[in-house]
Amino acid sequence: MKVEDIKSINEKVSVLTCYDYSFAKTIDGAVDIILVGDSVGNVVYGLDSTREVTMDIMIQHVKAVRKGVSKSLLVADMPFGSDKDAVAAVDNASKLVEAGADAVKVEGKPDIVKELVSKGFAVMGHVGLLPQTAETMRKYGKDDKEAKEILQQAKDISDAGAFAIVIESVPGELAKLITSQVKVPTIGIGAGKDCSGQVLVLYDMIGLFENVPSFVKRYISLSTLVKDAAARYSKEVKEGKFP
Ligand code: KIV
Repeated sequence: MKVEDIKSINEKVSVLTCYDYSFAKTIDGAVDIILVGDSVGNVVYGLDSTREVTMDIMIQHVKAVRKGVSKSLLVADMPFGSDKDAVAAVDNASKLVEAGADAVKVEGKPDIVKELVSKGFAVMGHVGLLPQTAETMRKYGKDDKEAKEILQQAKDISDAGAFAIVIESVPGELAKLITSQVKVPTIGIGAGKDCSGQVLVLYDMIGLFENVPSFVKRYISLSTLVKDAAARYSKEVKEGKFP
């Protein structure tokens, strides 16, 4: 999958996050886009905030995922602080592309998106709840003023040349409006059904976590299967049945 394919796709866009080689190999080609999200901090490292995720962490995980991906488009998050100004953004985006990313994702910041696009990077935007800078993990754009600001930011990011925009945690009506007013596909998460596509955190979707946001659909309860397999294995070892 290429960036141009996403821009011109005439069906909904499917996106999952992924952080390692094994899962990357498993889901490659099953979804249009694989996102090495900075949610790696929460789901792989047990950190409280994506703000603690560094470039070194992202580079390591992009390299691992790249080894397993040959079909889906591979997008990597620019971690907190890596895009603090234009020079840093270009330098760090280059490192992520060198590690194997086809494109980078920037939270907010239309000016940084514009700079990166002008330097030849494929950039995915992100509006609504911006976890790297948000004070609270709530629904954004519920009042008129905030909704207008988010819509304007999405338009600015689209005009800046992003090839798609993630819309996170906003009312469905606002996501629908944004989708109708920007020139590129929108990818929703907790933003209703009217975006051009959807993204979920892989480990939420496969049921590795007990506590997930209400909009998540679990397609399998992997934690139950793994716990059960571990318990059966342990029992067989203790009983001398394995090996
Ligand atoms: O880091 C991440 O997983 C993300 C998605 C929630 C869009 O940015």
